[in-house]
Amino acid sequence: MNDPKRLAAAAALELVVPGMKLGLGTGSTAAHFVELLGERVRAGLNVIGVPTSEATHRLAQECGISLTTLEETPELDLTVDGADEIDSALRLIKGGGAALLREKIVASASRRMVVIADGSKKVQTLGAFRLPIEVVRFGVEATRRAIIAAGAAVGCSGDVSLRMDGVGHALVTDEGHLLFDASFGRIPDPEGLALLLNAVPGVVEHGLFIGLADEAFVAGEGGIERLVR
Ligand code: 5RP
Repeated sequence: MNDPKRLAAAAALELVVPGMKLGLGTGSTAAHFVELLGERVRAGLNVIGVPTSEATHRLAQECGISLTTLEETPELDLTVDGADEIDSALRLIKGGGAALLREKIVASASRRMVVIADGSKKVQTLGAFRLPIEVVRFGVEATRRAIIAAGAAVGCSGDVSLRMDGVGHALVTDEGHLLFDASFGRIPDPEGLALLLNAVPGVVEHGLFIGLADEAFVAGEGGIERLVR
């Protein structure tokens, strides 16, 4: 097992104890965690999970993990999820897998959020990865312009375009919304941008996760680095 994503997932698995209520993230790194958790469950570990996407729901079921919802279980002990970018203050960009809305709701309902990633995700300044922004369908062009204006107010400029699916249609998220990707290049003031995006009426949620991650396991050639907020 020397895939860095799987190594990071294995490190997070050590935090899991019997009886835990877990948030299960989305993406290729989180999938490693779900698979490894499944092995422990099949060996007798008793936990329950809330998946952050339909894809993770399917995988967790295949792995034999008992699932619940935030309606039945509104408070979770631990969420383990991947990220597209992590800075030294454990601010994240998420949403590369289009699951940011459920991911943020699940992380917010958790006492602790642990991020698992390979070393390529660590950055000095957020923004090289296109920032995903989930929006309602109504008024989408007006919302796009409001997002551009919000970015400009905090020194962020760049293309803001709808994410497409593989067959030339606008991608629709698990919650039935559309997704913009904002190519800002660098985001000098993530908190300021987050506040302005939150104030745009058509924006449902954005991929800036600030103050949510408590800890990260970042796996690289030198082993696993543990970052704590
Ligand atoms: C999904 C996400 C993922 O956690 C993020 O895209 C990282 O994915 P991967 O582990 O495949 O690199 O935010 O919405």
